[in-house]
Amino acid sequence: MPKVTIDGHTIEVPDGTTILQAARMIMDKGEGNGENIAPPTMCYYSKLKTSGGYCRTCIVKVSKGSEKDPRPMPKPVASCRTNVMDGMEVQNITSPELLEARKGVVEFLLINHPLDCPICDQAGECHLQDLGYEHGLAKTRYDFKRRTFNLIDIGPYIKLHMTRCIMCFRCIKVADQLTNHRYQGMLFRGDASEISTYIEKAIDNDFSGNVIDVCPVGALTDRTFRFKSRVWFTKPMDAHRNCTKCSGKVALWLKDNEVLRVTSRKDKWGEAEEWICNECRFEKKDIKDWVIEGPRHIDRHSVISANHYESLAQLKLDIGKQQKQLNGKS
Ligand code: SF4
Ligand code: FES
Repeated sequence: MPKVTIDGHTIEVPDGTTILQAARMIMDKGEGNGENIAPPTMCYYSKLKTSGGYCRTCIVKVSKGSEKDPRPMPKPVASCRTNVMDGMEVQNITSPELLEARKGVVEFLLINHPLDCPICDQAGECHLQDLGYEHGLAKTRYDFKRRTFNLIDIGPYIKLHMTRCIMCFRCIKVADQLTNHRYQGMLFRGDASEISTYIEKAIDNDFSGNVIDVCPVGALTDRTFRFKSRVWFTKPMDAHRNCTKCSGKVALWLKDNEVLRVTSRKDKWGEAEEWICNECRFEKKDIKDWVIEGPRHIDRHSVISANHYESLAQLKLDIGKQQKQLNGKS
């Protein structure tokens, strides 16, 4: 099994592991000295085959190619598409020039992306917003006209803001791999690329709503949740129901007892743990439809986890249970 060292942390991984996967394994083992050595990703999604290789946010510096050929790689490589070699040494957060290069990638991603976070439903859980804070420039150097598009309704539940799209291909992979027919794709190439409105056809499928969860920005949003609340004012709860189409395990986003939004449960990399069906996502907005398990722990650094709702929400649940028990006894 090849051994790779990333930012000074060495790990042995199975053959065929990418640098990104190896970095995530180091983090999963609790190593990394509290630093996030796993490169950020905008297009790679471990649950979608052939994803990755489009956005370049996951670039790393390979300072030693392998034990056999120790020469450094001549330019940054996409860690989601580069396999580790035995003896490879990689730098992510420990290389200032790599961080400078990532700044350049973020600058490119933001060329056409509007800074409309104050009115975007994705604000607070947007991966590009996080990247912008960490690596973005305060000023733009781009003088040309930006691309703009009209909003497109993709059926009754999904809204497409092409202006915000960063062409990560994730929604296309969902349409391709989770639905029966591939009705969706990328039209044109280069700076003329756009997601085809043929996506409208994909709404017939029970799992099309997952495009909302995989979109790293606010280009695909839930029409049943649009403008209802900022995410940091809501309380995410794990909940489940008996569903014949999916596992029925979801995250409910509550305001008091009102279900504002239903999403899949996301792991610490911001990826859906399990795909959920459209019935659970869009049609079960009554709290009585669900068995509440408890407050959802948000692993990813986020304004949502910053408000300490978790312990308060758990306390409320516990008091509610105790009161029910007492009422039953009296
Ligand atoms: S709409 Fe969202 S998921 Fe689809 S390519 Fe654009 S950014 Fe990616
Ligand atoms: S995450 Fe690797 S290229 Fe996009």
